[in-house]
Amino acid sequence: MIAALDTTLLGEVSGFIAERLGLHFPEERWSDLARGLEAAGRELGFEYPDACKRWLTARDLTTRQIETLASHLTVGETYFLRDPASFEVLAREILPPLVARRVESGRTLRLWSAGCSTGEEAYSLAITCARTLPDLEAWNASVLATDINPKALAKAEAGVYSQWSFRGAPGWLRERFLAPTPEGKLEIAPTLKNLVHFGYLNLAEDVYPSLHNHTNAMDVIFCRNVLMYFTPDHQRRVVTALHRCLMDGGYLVVSPAEAGNSLFPMFAMEDIGGVILYRKTSRPTCVVPWPSIVSPEPSALAPEPAFFATSTPLGLPREPAFVAAAAPAATVAPVESATPIIAPPGDSPLELARTYANQGKLAAALVACRDAVAADRTNPAAHFLCATICEELGRPEEAVAALGKVLYLDQDFVLAHHGLGGLYKRLGKHEKSKRHLAIALELLAHRSRDEIVPESDGMTCGRLQESVRAMTGA
Ligand SMILES: C[S@@+](CC[C@H](N)C(=O)[O-])C[C@H]1O[C@@H](n2cnc3c(N)ncnc32)[C@H](O)[C@@H]1O
Repeated sequence: MIAALDTTLLGEVSGFIAERLGLHFPEERWSDLARGLEAAGRELGFEYPDACKRWLTARDLTTRQIETLASHLTVGETYFLRDPASFEVLAREILPPLVARRVESGRTLRLWSAGCSTGEEAYSLAITCARTLPDLEAWNASVLATDINPKALAKAEAGVYSQWSFRGAPGWLRERFLAPTPEGKLEIAPTLKNLVHFGYLNLAEDVYPSLHNHTNAMDVIFCRNVLMYFTPDHQRRVVTALHRCLMDGGYLVVSPAEAGNSLFPMFAMEDIGGVILYRKTSRPTCVVPWPSIVSPEPSALAPEPAFFATSTPLGLPREPAFVAAAAPAATVAPVESATPIIAPPGDSPLELARTYANQGKLAAALVACRDAVAADRTNPAAHFLCATICEELGRPEEAVAALGKVLYLDQDFVLAHHGLGGLYKRLGKHEKSKRHLAIALELLAHRSRDEIVPESDGMTCGRLQESVRAMTGA
């Protein structure tokens, strides 16, 4: 197979793949690369090897071609509660103190499955939150789930799985969180689906943390079985960016095979019952040479029986009550006070609002943002930031209203159309969603690919265009 695509071409293509997707194909893996290229070429209708060669050397790949390549060059293998010890540690050691801190200060929980594939990991995070929090409906809890593969994301969003996705999963998971479909599959309960928000994000190229794609102020990030496919350079870049996405005290969880000291020097490493965690801390990090590990406090190892012993707080029959309670903000406490708010003195209300939002102080951010709006009602950027904060607070209707004001002031504000496309999709208003995404694409068609989208934290028009296309399936 390597002979069909000559080694010079494979060398060039592996460089290109590393640049665009972060994926590492050293010479010893060129047979995998050739196999993936052949499959991608076939799916895209290029005759192998000649048309495929021409396609690869042209380099001007469309988004669809990049995505098709990604889907054939990456492994999407995943299942529910994969590596159960990580979820146990999340339930017993990470969430309880976090919840105790947040109960008086915002009742917000933000988790992220980065490289979520078909969604099993993201739903496992949601399930763990639901089982840990008896009053989940009183919280603004969310799981962001992102991947580069739109087909995997579409399956994830549908939330329908074969029995194979539950291999090794305990019986309570099926009983409490899944409903059988007539085709003999299992569907995720709507209550859980509402907690998880899927999005397209290329970890190698996209901008994060960013308010715009909701990758800021994370409490817990699971990025498992993803880094292992990246080049060493991309591994470092991704880990550094993920560190910036976390709140102080937040955790990064990777797979056991990816854990090691050299890649995570900016984190404090913790070993809880054999599970290695990376914690962001403002204290100087103690870098312990691998395989030595930081011993947990004895109390941290004490078993917390609630996770496996109690009945679930969230079952299918409670769904209407949960949906009704989850949307409005009334349940979210107005002030976050557990950690001090760090804001440079002399900032304008808008800058202050951005600083607070980036620190996850959403209630304070909204107050500052409304001050900014009161000071200048004609500033679309202030309304846009209000919309972003409302969305993060789990108040989609208010976010839609704020985006309406942005477009009243500036009908070409492309991120407002993009935002409305996403919000209407989540609210089940598909026609409106399509309309706004189509307008976003139309506006982007008149801009250069390298131009930075205003209010986007540095995203290029080309990338936004790819993201909108992925949302529309175009
Ligand atoms: C093996 S799956 C991991 C799924 C899940 N995290 C788990 O551990 O079960 C790897 C996923 O990483 C995704 N991926 C690979 N390169 C990526 C990139 N540059 N940006 C985002 N996701 C990427 C793949 O599409 C695939 O879905």
